[in-house]
Amino acid sequence: MTDSLLPPKTGKRRLFALGFASPGPYRKWRNGLKIIPWLIGTILMDFSQRFDSHVQRVDAWLDRLLREAALSDQTDQGARAVVPADISPSTPENNRLVTAMHYAATNGGKRLRPVLVIETAALFGVPPDACLNAAAAIECVHCYSLVHDDLPCMDNDSLRRGQPTVWKAYDEWTAILAGDALLTLAFELLSRPDTHGDGDVRLALIATLAKASGASGMAQGQAMDLAASALSEHVQLDLRHVKLLQALKTGALIEAACLFGALLGQGDANAKASLQRFGQALGLAFQISDDLLDQEGNAQVVGKATGKDTAAGKATFVSLLGLEGARRELRAALEDANAALSEFGARADPLRDIATFIAQRQH
Ligand code: IPE
Ligand code: IPE
Ligand code: MG
Ligand code: MG
Ligand code: MG
Repeated sequence: MTDSLLPPKTGKRRLFALGFASPGPYRKWRNGLKIIPWLIGTILMDFSQRFDSHVQRVDAWLDRLLREAALSDQTDQGARAVVPADISPSTPENNRLVTAMHYAATNGGKRLRPVLVIETAALFGVPPDACLNAAAAIECVHCYSLVHDDLPCMDNDSLRRGQPTVWKAYDEWTAILAGDALLTLAFELLSRPDTHGDGDVRLALIATLAKASGASGMAQGQAMDLAASALSEHVQLDLRHVKLLQALKTGALIEAACLFGALLGQGDANAKASLQRFGQALGLAFQISDDLLDQEGNAQVVGKATGKDTAAGKATFVSLLGLEGARRELRAALEDANAALSEFGARADPLRDIATFIAQRQH
């Protein structure tokens, strides 16, 4: 089972610790003053349960898709005949590439991007099950980006989501190819007729994800990030550069996830623009919190090494603004994100909850 956006037990425990939650309805009547905090606790429980159910759906769908990816090779008898039996891609168990893809995609991510797809699409009345291919596609691109990000030639990390990174668990070539194959699987998923009944919507999803992933999106941001750390002795990025770098590296995929909801729901131009603005502000908030966690987080809770940005001499929000300045910038980004949702009224409350989660997350 993967982590949820707000694990119910943790949330409940934290609420108890703060005195904001009571164990049951009886106690709320015993002390009238406690009823409002109790209600707040209840609302947060609902949030947690709602997101848990999305996470479970997405986990199960990814598991199924990746098992199918392994099994579909069985139909290719011709190819199997020329591959020695011990490396023949006939089952998930002995298909090294697909097993590594499965490991990379199902090892406990928060599923923020798929949940954003589901919740932005819900604004237009699209049910969660109708979002799963699109949600899984964006998560495949995200997982691929992490697999490559952890490689020795990039961030050289051994721990991801509390487990050995793919190159550590397998080897470098498997990690590179598993990343490549997750990226291409994403686009194959979006092309499937059951992703959306309208071919124009499928094309728009493909174009949006391609733009967000490549040289005008995530890959460009990663290139800027690595170039900046390689040259950090000679060149210091300023805040404007760091914002652009982060908007590409992290923001582009989060923005695409929010646009996916508008595309699946065939929202109008205004709704798309609002969700794009929401996604951009949320992406910024998310990367600032990632930088804060790298500085102050506990590696066991975060599930990846911490203190790496400083060690690598990276220019981040924390290195440029300090901890307090980064927190201030995070709060401003959250206000922007919430402001972008105004036209949706109370229907956008789950998206507001996601923004709050991002500001408070510990992993
Ligand atoms: C980590 O993303 C990498 C960044 C883009 C900052 P997440 O924090 O969403 O990673 P998982 O998917 O939950 O592991
Ligand atoms: C990586 O950023 C973002 C992408 C993979 C696109 P980081 O290098 O800061 O992510 P973590 O901290 O390793 O998760
Ligand atoms: Mg990196
Ligand atoms: Mg990294
Ligand atoms: Mg980081």
